[in-house]
Amino acid sequence: MELAGKRIVLGVTGGIAAYKVCDLVRRLQDEGASVQVVMTRAAQEFVTATTLQALSGQPVFTDQWGAEGAKVGNAMPHIDVSRAADAVVVAPASAHFIAKTAQGLADDLLCTLVLARRCPLLVAPAMNVEMWSNPATQRNVQQLKADGIEILGPGVGDQACGETGAGRMLEPQELLEDIIAFFQPKLLQDKRVLVTAGPTFEPIDPVRGITNLSSGKMGFAMARAAREAGAKVTLIAGPTTLPTPRGVRRLDVRTAREMHDDVMSYVNHAQVYIGVAAVADWRVQPAAQKLKKSLGQPTLVFEPNPDILASVAALPSPPFTVGFAAETDDEVAYARGKLKAKRLSMIVANRAQDILSADDGELTVVDAEGATPLQRASKLTQARRIIAAIAQRLGAD
Ligand code: CTP
Repeated sequence: MELAGKRIVLGVTGGIAAYKVCDLVRRLQDEGASVQVVMTRAAQEFVTATTLQALSGQPVFTDQWGAEGAKVGNAMPHIDVSRAADAVVVAPASAHFIAKTAQGLADDLLCTLVLARRCPLLVAPAMNVEMWSNPATQRNVQQLKADGIEILGPGVGDQACGETGAGRMLEPQELLEDIIAFFQPKLLQDKRVLVTAGPTFEPIDPVRGITNLSSGKMGFAMARAAREAGAKVTLIAGPTTLPTPRGVRRLDVRTAREMHDDVMSYVNHAQVYIGVAAVADWRVQPAAQKLKKSLGQPTLVFEPNPDILASVAALPSPPFTVGFAAETDDEVAYARGKLKAKRLSMIVANRAQDILSADDGELTVVDAEGATPLQRASKLTQARRIIAAIAQRLGAD
């Protein structure tokens, strides 16, 4: 429940993407938000107020003077509807709505309540590619940004009109993730954060290899939490099918050496490095052809892989360097040893049998100051706590 207790006013303007807000309403509610829908007249050409009322469970406001407006306290829906809200989200936002809001016009209920609001406004543009790239729209969007309004998207791709390009409304799941991110404290605003995640895969021959049980979930949660905190995040991921968190730049690698090389070429730009990947400590020289059973039992000769985390911490001016230690026993003691041996800023200890592939876990943050246990919670919650701990240490430096 990422939006528990949040009250969202969802403004819907005229655009074919309006049908997608039915799904968005459900997703917002599934995360615990209450949703008050306000529609423009044009929006009702695409989806009905009845549908959105049924989905949101609340009467839909469509105009300033209608019967619903009269039911609001002092019959001033343009003031009252947004007063209790934590945010107004307008999706889809037409070019016309954006132009009116840039100008501060107030000729319908939605624009008027947007003008009269005290809470944040998030706008998800949806329009034809030419309308989006038109200098007038771009000018208006810049004005909204300058006024502190959050612009969500737009996406790029095939459009309902048959053309292709920028201007698609973000998908409901993308909007949901951006809305959730919006409410997180911006503890790492504009900091550059490099995260590694997942297992590595060391080939033995073209069809076989050595890997481990890391799912990548903790590293992906760290990347998401850092981005939610306002950081610019690069995620270097070993083999995993997890979806890339919103707004995160992702590079896929296979072996420890590939991960090492990518980390080394990006780490100079980073203020924070978080090594969550379960990097194979050893590799073998892979055979060029598939090993045949008939040739007898193969002998694997192991060579050490570079220790990526230790290499980062040993740089002349290292970033704030965070390691993860998955241990089967004595995790805090081992973590303390790794903190010292690898000269890390911080290490997060966990029990391998507890955390591997799981969706939640108990962790301990260990640094020079001591050990702080983090009570059992989802990996995303734990990731946000770790980001807060990192931000606090960075702020103190
Ligand atoms: N790590 C790394 N490169 C390696 C091995 C580990 O960057 N070649 C990083 C991991 O990303 C993690 C931390 O080191 O942040 C601890 O990994 P772990 O496997 O627990 O530690 P090791 O140093 O490999 O020690 P051991 O396997 O003996 O526990």
